[in-house]
Amino acid sequence: MLNDQAAGLRNLHTQHKANQTQEKEAQQPNQSTMQRAAGTQKPIRVIAVASGKGGVGKTNVSVNLGISLSKMGNRVLLMDADMGLANVDIMLGLHTEYNLSHVLDGQKTLREVIQEGPGGLKIIPAASGVKRMAQLNAMENAGIINAFSELADDLDVLLIDTAAGIADSVVSFCRAAQEVIVVVTDEPASITDAYALIKVLNRDYKVSRFRLLANMARTPEHGKQLFDKLSRVTEQFLDVSLDYFGAVPFDYSLKDAVQKQIPVTLYRPNSLAAKSFESMARSVERWPISKDASGYLQFFVENLFQGS
Ligand SMILES: Nc1ncnc2c1ncn2[C@@H]1O[C@H](COP(=O)(O)OP(=O)(O)O)[C@@H](O)[C@H]1O
Ligand SMILES: [Mg+2]
Repeated sequence: MLNDQAAGLRNLHTQHKANQTQEKEAQQPNQSTMQRAAGTQKPIRVIAVASGKGGVGKTNVSVNLGISLSKMGNRVLLMDADMGLANVDIMLGLHTEYNLSHVLDGQKTLREVIQEGPGGLKIIPAASGVKRMAQLNAMENAGIINAFSELADDLDVLLIDTAAGIADSVVSFCRAAQEVIVVVTDEPASITDAYALIKVLNRDYKVSRFRLLANMARTPEHGKQLFDKLSRVTEQFLDVSLDYFGAVPFDYSLKDAVQKQIPVTLYRPNSLAAKSFESMARSVERWPISKDASGYLQFFVENLFQGS
């Protein structure tokens, strides 16, 4: 079984190498050439949602951004990589029995642990095995990479709700993802911890691009000011590019939605919070999507498991 998976993986690699050569040979590959070159695989967006401090809204951002992207026609998979208490399945009132650790144990396939969430969102529940995933042996690695690769055809966006702070798993996910959204609120601890996270990810793990989301903002202007404050410091002391992603207002509709275990984008689609998630989802669609190897899901997974 594992041998089959390893063989499958090798084939994928060989195929991809050949594809890359074809891509290089083409002078100006157009979209369809690129798609042919990539075989059945196409680039997908892999976005990690991180924060220095907990309780700033990462899970709400992941879920609602995911639902907004899904409403716009994207096929979105949300991976819950936070083993904290208020994780995705609780927020959505899902009853999950299986997670990634069961995939690693060979008890379940990846498709079997994926849950149908609300609003078309698909979810991989939090795994106590996430930490263990960084220490897989080569065979297990090949198996899980292959399992993820099979999903790639059915996906446009993979969102990862990470744990707060600089846990090993956070580092691995942020390093392997194409985009890192840092959620911050206007509190001193949130700002200093966000700075610390960006600094460590950059200095020790060479992550160089971040997008800042100001959550629970009093006004859109306050959100922008928060970004300006943080970007002045990162510009002065770090060599990173920090872009402003946008602000989500403090909104009681979101609090009510959390109580009801329904995402605010579904519970109160006309609320200010829901509207800002929608507009941010539209900007995600405008982000350039990597057409080179790093844009493919299998590379994300390879990086993830080889990282530490
Ligand atoms: N935009 C917002 N407006 C009002 N309350 C919010 C907002 N975002 C988050 N919250 C509150 O903060 C709590 C924590 O949010 P959550 O997404 O679970 O944070 P994290 O995943 O970072 O720990 C929510 O249960 C909610 O009560
Ligand atoms: Mg959370």
